[in-house]
Amino acid sequence: MILETIITSLSPDGTPYLAPMGVHAVDGEMLIMPYRPSRTLDNILATGHAVMNHTDDVRVFAGCLTGRRDWPVTATERVPGWRLACALSHAELELVSMEEHELRPKLHCRVVHEANHAPFRGFNRAQFAVLEAAILASRVGMLPWEKIAAELAYLRIGLEKTAGERENEAWSWLMEKFDAFRQGQVQETEIP
Ligand SMILES: Cc1cc2nc3c(=O)[nH]c(=O)nc-3n(C[C@H](O)[C@H](O)[C@H](O)COP(=O)(O)O)c2cc1C
Repeated sequence: MILETIITSLSPDGTPYLAPMGVHAVDGEMLIMPYRPSRTLDNILATGHAVMNHTDDVRVFAGCLTGRRDWPVTATERVPGWRLACALSHAELELVSMEEHELRPKLHCRVVHEANHAPFRGFNRAQFAVLEAAILASRVGMLPWEKIAAELAYLRIGLEKTAGERENEAWSWLMEKFDAFRQGQVQETEIP
């Protein structure tokens, strides 16, 4: 199963670096697979640790994709680093081994500490919509615009029916990014 998480890793200057990552949970092991080049990859290789944050505040996912990476953090307990202050729960990871790959290496990690911080209040379709839109935003320029537009139109249905303030704000950040991208594309095609 793949868990959509926020990975916090420790930068060489001691500051936290946040990135959404789909973590593969396989037989108790956590597999992080960053695409090169990746600051998350560099930080985990340098420190041997990472933190997996589970949050229902999807603004963090949308924020990381739209230049808003500065979310409040709290010091971790067992490994050097930081966890998201808004995490409902988090897991502190130790790097066990790496499978090299020129495009997408696999970081095999084990959980050394887990903690709960707040209750999980249930599933929400708008949160799913924001996560999917954030993934599309991370691939803008790689996917045909028609595919992105069709998927956004579908995701908007669940968003409009079920969103709260956080989900609407996250969605608006992502739509600004898509609009800016489209603006650039249109201008490019207009240049003779
Ligand atoms: C829900 C979600 C899951 C993602 N999963 C991954 C992943 O598994 N690997 C990856 O390289 N990027 C993933 N991304 C994109 C990264 O978060 C994004 O490219 C980020 O800038 C990576 O930071 P880094 O390359 O500096 O480590 C995901 C994005 C979202 C929204």
